[in-house]
Amino acid sequence: MPKAVRRTFVLVTTPVALVALLGAAAPPSQGSSGAGDPYFPLAGNGGYHVGHYGLTLDYDPGSGHLAGTAVLTARASQRLTRFDLDLNGLTVTGLTVGHTKAAFRRDGQELVVTPKRALRKGEWFTVTVAYKGKPAPVTDPDGSLDGWIPTDDGAFVAGEPQGAMTWFPANNHPKDKSSYDITITVPKGHTAVSNGVLLGERTAHGKTTFRWRQSEPMAAYLATATVGKFKVQQFTTRDGLHVYNAIDPREAAAATPVVKQLPSVLEWESKLFGPYPYRAAGSIVDHAPNVGYALETQTRPVYDRAPDLSTLVHESAHQWFGDSVSLTSWKDIWLNEGFATYAEWLYAEQHGGDSAQKTFDELYAKPASDGLWEFPPGDPGSGANIFGTPVYARGAMTLHVLREAVGDRTFLRILRTWAGEHRDGHGTTAQFVALAEHLSGKNLDKLFQTWLYAPGKPN
Ligand code: ARG
Ligand code: ZN
Repeated sequence: MPKAVRRTFVLVTTPVALVALLGAAAPPSQGSSGAGDPYFPLAGNGGYHVGHYGLTLDYDPGSGHLAGTAVLTARASQRLTRFDLDLNGLTVTGLTVGHTKAAFRRDGQELVVTPKRALRKGEWFTVTVAYKGKPAPVTDPDGSLDGWIPTDDGAFVAGEPQGAMTWFPANNHPKDKSSYDITITVPKGHTAVSNGVLLGERTAHGKTTFRWRQSEPMAAYLATATVGKFKVQQFTTRDGLHVYNAIDPREAAAATPVVKQLPSVLEWESKLFGPYPYRAAGSIVDHAPNVGYALETQTRPVYDRAPDLSTLVHESAHQWFGDSVSLTSWKDIWLNEGFATYAEWLYAEQHGGDSAQKTFDELYAKPASDGLWEFPPGDPGSGANIFGTPVYARGAMTLHVLREAVGDRTFLRILRTWAGEHRDGHGTTAQFVALAEHLSGKNLDKLFQTWLYAPGKPN
């Protein structure tokens, strides 16, 4: 919520008598249906912050049926007589706020909740939602599937940008970050892999329950509960990092040699970007040919097939850029994809591959008519473009031009400071530009203006 709005709110509501006089001018006590993102207006909700999600799921890959209970622990940021959650599909079978049944209705992806009594501004409360059904993915504006995507042996679960709401009720925008406990029960022989640390695994009556904990704050789109028949490998590194890998046997031959390099990739990235932000790591390599992408699910990226090393480097770099430092608006997506792509360039440069300069030059040689110059990365224009080539490639080119302008030492200092100052939080493009100018002592407005915002090929 913009500061100005909040201030008005306080001024108008504090004197009780004034509120009575103003009547209709009293602040709305209904949480808004969106977090204010122009690309995804209904994503997220206004009026509260979720501190913790406790999700208990039971999934049957045979029938595709999911039964779930979500317990959200949230804090009202305003008085609330009503608020929304995001939930797409599925049937809600019960809903309580605190210990009291609350009224609810469905309106598209909005689950509108009216608690029995209004929540006070600043009040912590729990919402418990029982739900069931056959989860199905949503189709994103770019045409890709997103969310709970059934596979031949389970489900590939990835939620960027919208899909979290296909499997749990959420405040579905990266502006809101929360800790998670995710417990998933699947038929014995299947494995359910989520974020963070595996607290326990227990088999009884032909079913296995996996209990996962993601303690550091996470955006809803980075949650996963991927189910399949996986080969599992677990170990703890000398630094105390809990590594859990789950690999579909059909991908194992190609995936194993790449996934093995994860600890060394994370170590290399830690030297560049600062300490790895999490206590857990790993890879989920599924066999999901209908998906077509990988996602940097927090602590444990999920791949639709065996990744190559460059993709592993990319998803790992997202743990700093995108996961730990999150977006406040999808428009700023280059802060995720440009950075993760530039990490690939740096990795190649330092491991006997092409220099970043060479990669830059090859891209820059593309004619003005090429798709690379179709729109500027800092202003993709709509949700359909957030995963377009300009966001990744020209986003990375922007960082390369910055590196050229400020020199290697300052450039790395900027990246490290960015990751450190916004760790477990958020960052905006304006803040990144300000930081780069501050640490370099240079006016970089023209550079960023040209590379992030000017339409067409920069000259
Ligand atoms: N962030 C992912 C990556 O760059 C891409 C996710 C694409 N998602 C989508 N719905 N198209 O690795
Ligand atoms: Zn990416």
